[in-house]
Amino acid sequence: MKNTVVVGAQFGDEGKAKITDLLAMDADFITRFQGGSNAGHTVVANGKKYAFHLIPSGILYENKTCMIGAGCVIKPDDLKKEIEDIISQGVSREHFEKCLKISPLAHITMKYHIDIDGYSENELGKNKIGTTKKGIGPTYTDKAKRSGIRVEDLFNKETLSKKLDIILPNKNKVLETVYNLKPYTKEEILAECEQYRAILAPYVDFNWQENLLEAKKNKSILFEGAQGVMLDVDYGTYPYVTSSNPIAGGAGVGASMGPMTIERAIGVFKAYMTRVGKGAFITELQDETGEKLRSIGGEFGVTTGRPRRCGWFDAVSAKYAVLVGGLSEVAITKLDVLDSFEEIKVAVAYKNKITGEITKSYPTDVFTHYDFEPVYETHKGWKQDTSKCKSYDELPNNAKLYLARLEELLGIKITILSVGPDREQTIFID
Ligand code: GDP
Ligand code: IMO
Ligand code: MG
Repeated sequence: MKNTVVVGAQFGDEGKAKITDLLAMDADFITRFQGGSNAGHTVVANGKKYAFHLIPSGILYENKTCMIGAGCVIKPDDLKKEIEDIISQGVSREHFEKCLKISPLAHITMKYHIDIDGYSENELGKNKIGTTKKGIGPTYTDKAKRSGIRVEDLFNKETLSKKLDIILPNKNKVLETVYNLKPYTKEEILAECEQYRAILAPYVDFNWQENLLEAKKNKSILFEGAQGVMLDVDYGTYPYVTSSNPIAGGAGVGASMGPMTIERAIGVFKAYMTRVGKGAFITELQDETGEKLRSIGGEFGVTTGRPRRCGWFDAVSAKYAVLVGGLSEVAITKLDVLDSFEEIKVAVAYKNKITGEITKSYPTDVFTHYDFEPVYETHKGWKQDTSKCKSYDELPNNAKLYLARLEELLGIKITILSVGPDREQTIFID
């Protein structure tokens, strides 16, 4: 298999994990490169449903290395729970100890990051981001501010002690004076770190430089994105975004292997669109049709259980995602969810409600998004069950027309089609 990156191309939850899990079959080395346990990734395999948050979606196979890369942030107790949940579903502890690797350079989400995430959201009131409250923003803030704690620090008492002497006075000042939150003593933080060290110890790959060199030379590598292009901190609907780079370009940085390692970039799109959390969503449907998409698509968050906002496919943002996301191919998921719809709409442009101006370029200032309404193109539904289709040829004609139009609008090929959550409900298009 060519080295491939799989990224979400909308607002997350596109069904990336299903696609990653399938492609992982032909890969040797699967690596997450950004995000943390804000992600909720569902894989249905051998009749069981697994929920992953930080563990790469290739973990269900034998003899593959699954790495949590340097660009990720880790809340060790969340990771522990995730591992225990999967062990309770029949995967052995020895399998995790053999296959799961963690980069010593990944950053640790501390309790104070969770405190700050919660506080900041409350303070923003109606303007809140709607985060997953997993401490993601504050952990990446500390990384950029150069005051973060990395996995490797947990394993070096001297370094950790020196670092805490530098960062803790300022952290406590900020916690107390800005956030009105409780400060931490050095002893408390050391005890927290000791707990985290014990959790992570079986998985940390201190030999990562040799192992990655070997993977680059001899192995098929799959880079697994979390979130989606429209949640990217640089290119998404800023500030209603996550704090990392889910675009394909993020893989080169976050997986420690650089851009030249990547040969294919697959963007995963739902056949419609969803968003969980706040922020403008130009094709959102706050009506019966949106409700129908939510109930047929089972659109509820894996991490927070929140109902997802639903709407039609937005080809304006999708084309933008192809550009800034660096995509070379498309996977369309959840086509089956549209099976019973009389009509299916696609936004092909936006109309400014004030000036009447039509634009096909994505407006990056999201505070102007409420001024726009979608210009829709309407497609006839196919009113047939696609969930058992095994090839492109078996699809109803109207479904083929819909997909052909999406391909035309996006300007790159659809190579994977998903018509249900199971591995078998997938069509690879040559
Ligand atoms: P991710 O975060 O992008 O990996 O996606 P999530 O796991 O959060 O959400 C996708 C949901 O859709 C999961 O419940 C999947 O099992 C399900 N799913 C994936 N592909 C399909 C599909 O083609 N059809 C249907 N009906 N469900 C799908
Ligand atoms: P997967 O990988 C959907 C959203 C949150 C919020 C914003 C910022 O399953 O696609 P954060 O906690 O990251 O600071 O929240 O990003 N968000 C997701 N939405 N799927 C995800 O992950 C998400 N991870 C974060 O709802 O709007
Ligand atoms: Mg998800």
